[in-house]
Amino acid sequence: MEVLIFPSYDEMSKAAARVVADLINAKPNAVLGLATGSTPIGLYRELVRMHKEEGLDFSQVVTFNLDEYVGLPKDHPQSYHYFMHEHLFKHINIPPQNIHIPAGTTSNYAAFCRWYEERIKQCGGIDLQILGIGADGHIAFNEPGSSLGSRTRIKTLARQTIEDNARFFGGRVEDVPIYAITMGVGTILEARKIILLANGRNKAKAVAAAIEGPVTSMITASALQLHPDVTFFLDEEAASELKMIDYFRWVQSNKPKAPKT
Ligand code: GLP
Repeated sequence: MEVLIFPSYDEMSKAAARVVADLINAKPNAVLGLATGSTPIGLYRELVRMHKEEGLDFSQVVTFNLDEYVGLPKDHPQSYHYFMHEHLFKHINIPPQNIHIPAGTTSNYAAFCRWYEERIKQCGGIDLQILGIGADGHIAFNEPGSSLGSRTRIKTLARQTIEDNARFFGGRVEDVPIYAITMGVGTILEARKIILLANGRNKAKAVAAAIEGPVTSMITASALQLHPDVTFFLDEEAASELKMIDYFRWVQSNKPKAPKT
């Protein structure tokens, strides 16, 4: 696992967007796993800029979003469908049929979850998964206690997550859905490459637990320690509780000079 620390949110976002763009340029039909939340907004803004100013081409890119609230229709301003269209899809040239987001409303959730897993396989698997992290260390909506082998399914959200996300619902905790469809930890770990972004002081404990703590279902991001190709993109505040911070900085400045072959 690699840990990269950036002086600002903007620099973190731009460096992460470069990884995504390099993949798309090398593999125009790349399959991306996408995250929502406030964290990846800067990354999406940079991808939109690259599309508009540098011709970054999404015409063959396929995407799978991590999760969606159960019960919110696609046009609900707090749905992850709405979020993705506002922050990314409506600004780039991705064909609508290449976009996959878990259904917030469907007549059969279990069947939908099975189909979602199948569809990822049919598309060749996820080349690059983008993640954020919850303040309790969750990835996607895999709350503490989620099996580290879990697949796409319905999860009951933790109180903390509902309270954290109430800010998007005008501060009304009672308006935040209690359930979500989410890719499982096992689904996420099958991506070929994973990048996790975190910024701000309120993520520092979760980040330290994920990187330096034991692998545990209580911090589902800690399962990333088992993956062979994970990079954490952090700002200074999110990195501030890492005990090994000097070591990570040392590696960050020396690793690019290491022999490549
Ligand atoms: C939600 C999402 C996660 C996201 C987390 C952090 O719980 N399901 O995918 O990582 O929020 O959100 P934010 O980036 O807004 O802090």
